[in-house]
Amino acid sequence: MDKGIPQNKSNNEKGKVIFMAHERTLVILKPDAVNRGLVGTVMNRFERKGLKIVGLKMENLEEKKLKEHYAHHKDKHFFEELLEYMSSIPSVLVVFEGKDAVAVVRKMAGATSGRDAEPGTIRGDFSMSIQVNVIHASGSTKEAEKEIKRFFGEKDLMEYERTDFGAIYSSEEKK
Ligand code: CMP
Repeated sequence: MDKGIPQNKSNNEKGKVIFMAHERTLVILKPDAVNRGLVGTVMNRFERKGLKIVGLKMENLEEKKLKEHYAHHKDKHFFEELLEYMSSIPSVLVVFEGKDAVAVVRKMAGATSGRDAEPGTIRGDFSMSIQVNVIHASGSTKEAEKEIKRFFGEKDLMEYERTDFGAIYSSEEKK
């Protein structure tokens, strides 16, 4: 099964088994989130929103993967410093699942620069920097699929149903 667009089974509705095609997206809680003790706070925002954790790990991001992950920035003046910062201490990697998860998480992250990001967003509330900006969030569903595969194996991604699933979505939105 393609882990990018899972088919989740739900039997919450009067014993009826329904299927939905919710999205998955990658969030990296960057070294500054770990250094500043913000991991729980940031994770809590996504969980309270109703996003489901389906993959979670802490990892020292190695240069090879970082170069791949940030390949689109390889000619930028900040590339080397970005690699150095991202590999300075471990990051926490999370895969969240939910309806329109990619767009929802991007909105919650806020603008790249913490100084420009709106208050109420994660970067707007916790960052003063364009580089040291607490989290990375996939930019599109295509990117999410690639990024999840880069950092997680098939077996690392869980399929389960949160018991509050029926309280988070309308019947229509579960599909
Ligand atoms: P992220 O969402 O992980 O995607 C690319 C990263 O590059 C970005 O967050 C920042 O950490 C970093 N970045 C983007 N623009 C700049 C910049 N102008 N100067 C330094 N770092 C940047």
